[in-house]
Amino acid sequence: MEGRPAAEDREYMRKEFLVYGSPAIGEEEIAEVLDTIRSGWLGTGPKTERLEREFAAYLNVKHCAAVSSCTAALHLAMLAAGIKQGDEVIVPAMTFCSTANAVVHAGATPVFADIELPGMTIDPADVKRKITKKTKAILPVHFYGRPADMAALRACARRHRLVLIGDAAHAIETHYHGKTAGQLCDITCFSFYITKNMTTVEGGMVATGRKEWADRIKILALHGMSKDAWARYSDKGYRHYEVVSAGFKNNMTDLLASFGLHQLRRLEQNLARREAIWQAYSRGLAGLPLILPADPAPDTRHARHIYAVRVARGAPLDRDELMDELYKRNIGTGVHYTALHLHKFYRENFGYKKGDFPNAESVGKTTLSLPLSPKLTNKDVQDVIDAVKESLLS
Ligand SMILES: Cc1ncc(COP(=O)(O)O)c(C=O)c1O
Repeated sequence: MEGRPAAEDREYMRKEFLVYGSPAIGEEEIAEVLDTIRSGWLGTGPKTERLEREFAAYLNVKHCAAVSSCTAALHLAMLAAGIKQGDEVIVPAMTFCSTANAVVHAGATPVFADIELPGMTIDPADVKRKITKKTKAILPVHFYGRPADMAALRACARRHRLVLIGDAAHAIETHYHGKTAGQLCDITCFSFYITKNMTTVEGGMVATGRKEWADRIKILALHGMSKDAWARYSDKGYRHYEVVSAGFKNNMTDLLASFGLHQLRRLEQNLARREAIWQAYSRGLAGLPLILPADPAPDTRHARHIYAVRVARGAPLDRDELMDELYKRNIGTGVHYTALHLHKFYRENFGYKKGDFPNAESVGKTTLSLPLSPKLTNKDVQDVIDAVKESLLS
């Protein structure tokens, strides 16, 4: 921009690039991974089972099934819930593509609904408008860690006999009206991708109160075999198996579960650190031409997964220009997300077009995520604030 000094000419400049979404991995994870390698059993086995039990205890749910990603979790959750070709599943237009892709993987049709502002979760009033005879499920996303309006969605699901499938990829620590993220829907899916609140590098989990669904997912996640590899090869001796469906290869491994066991133990401590960073950002960025994240709704806990600002109308830079300025100042940022209906695949296959979901579009054009990881030092956080201020005010 004219009149703006080149970043490299200024005195202040971070020396190291601050990577967006860098995970905090401790010595315990490293020791556990080594222990797994030395044990001789790296695949799906006792550590995966332990992670399922401990994650279920954390969420206070009856059953958990560990899988290879949240995308796989969503796909298999839909199959377990009986979603099939010809069915419609209502999905927010503002989410990561895999929420909607998983519906397509199940053979069903994703039907978008707009989001509410300023909370950015699926708008129950628009969900109601999108219900047809073919609708089988609603798929709320607890967006950035903020729970969806579950009271309204549950009432709607009950009235129309719909299944609630939760996308809690951002929301492991989220609470809503005294319930954990695993207790809000009939079945809920979590992500352990590298940037998530806890990571197994790649991985995911399904949580449900229904044993038959959890059992079915475990079978579908491993070729449709009636016994997993640990059950076949463990020290109990070889056991025969039978293929009961044409399953997939979506199993979690003990090597990756080794990360998760210790990440899980540090969840609350890491949330407290992200909460402090969140407050520091909100204090430090107040008064700038930005829309800051909305406060959590009463009687809820926000999992503080993504701190995203929206560039306000009339700001001297648009979102992409602000990203470029921050990049020049060695600050990595992200965009979560472009509204789904604007992507080629959904336009061409489902007939969506610009203007269909105004709130999702407006967020998609203006949103910018700042680094938020327990690994950030106070100096990192101040650097981000200074860089945003400098970009917008100079
Ligand atoms: C809202 C949402 N749903 C689903 C996913 C998919 O997670 P995974 O990468 O574990 O498949 C993500 C990942 O970023 C996400 O943000």
